[in-house]
Amino acid sequence: MTFSIEVRRAPDPSRLADEVREGLTRTPVEIPPKWFYDDKGSQLFDDITELPEYYPTRTEQAILDAHASELPQVGTLVELGAGYSRKTKALLESVRPSLFVPLDVAEEPIHDAAVRITRDFPEIEVRGVVADFEDELAPLPGTDGDRMVAFLGSTIGNLTPEPRREFLRRVFRATAPGDLFLLGADLVKDVDRLVRAYDDSAGVTAAFNKNVLHVLSRELDTDLDPDAFDHVAVWNAEDERIEMRLRARRDLTVRLLGLEWRIAAGEEILTETSAKFRVDGIRAELADAGFSVVTTWTDPAEDFSLTLARRL
Ligand code: SAH
Ligand code: AVI
Repeated sequence: MTFSIEVRRAPDPSRLADEVREGLTRTPVEIPPKWFYDDKGSQLFDDITELPEYYPTRTEQAILDAHASELPQVGTLVELGAGYSRKTKALLESVRPSLFVPLDVAEEPIHDAAVRITRDFPEIEVRGVVADFEDELAPLPGTDGDRMVAFLGSTIGNLTPEPRREFLRRVFRATAPGDLFLLGADLVKDVDRLVRAYDDSAGVTAAFNKNVLHVLSRELDTDLDPDAFDHVAVWNAEDERIEMRLRARRDLTVRLLGLEWRIAAGEEILTETSAKFRVDGIRAELADAGFSVVTTWTDPAEDFSLTLARRL
């Protein structure tokens, strides 16, 4: 079988400019995390998943290995924020779809996954979609009532509560009664382990964080020097989330979007929030969005959760 890739919305510089302009009005200044993922950033995230400190990927993989065989078979599997779709093999082997739709803002990982999956599962058609999951998701390929939408890796945690509510409603709108939703969510745990997972000793997460400044410099023709910033990962106990920030090492003046942006030494830019969940909380959020929760699996240490829900 061959594969195809539909570009619904490429991550273009005008959108980056709009989102950065909006982020500059906030305190602290924010850059949305979707802009980490150019080719280099996608590769760096892939490296993160192999780090000893970064437990989420291997823990979710273990849950999938243990429970994917309990999933119903469906005709179409849609994976949102699929990246390289490395964990998807366990799903494809159990769910046995005839159509697999990896959707991501980054094209290179989708292309890589499409080549690999077409080779390993010649009976499955792969239809990649380059799109922003913060845009409307409908229409999703496949037959109503015979789809599963998977959102793995706890990427749901990179959305703050209101955008997360809107995202779940978008998934609801794009699906039909009977469609399934499989959601991976990282759980609240020991703070030291959480912080180490986002501040590894090899400095890969620091390079991933600073990569967003390379993206801005290249796409918006500015002169943000990544070496003028330190990577910071902190636990925000009130909001139960890890925050990744970039802290200026010295006073800086940056020309950006026709503005002079003055950054004082010690000032921080918020580049990512990664919420950690409680099982009851994530199930309640799914129910609020109109899904009926079927089951939640966790690993024995309850580090990570995978919830299967059905669209009512
Ligand atoms: N699902 C994979 C990859 C997680 S990394 C895993 O579990 O390991 C997060 C992925 O979401 C990246 O591939 C990134 O490009 C994608 N992503 C982030 N923001 C996005 C957005 N707004 N729309 C579409 N994809 C997005
Ligand atoms: C993609 N997302 C779920 C990752 C996370 O853990 O929040 C991104 C990441 N940021 C730093 N390390 C990994």
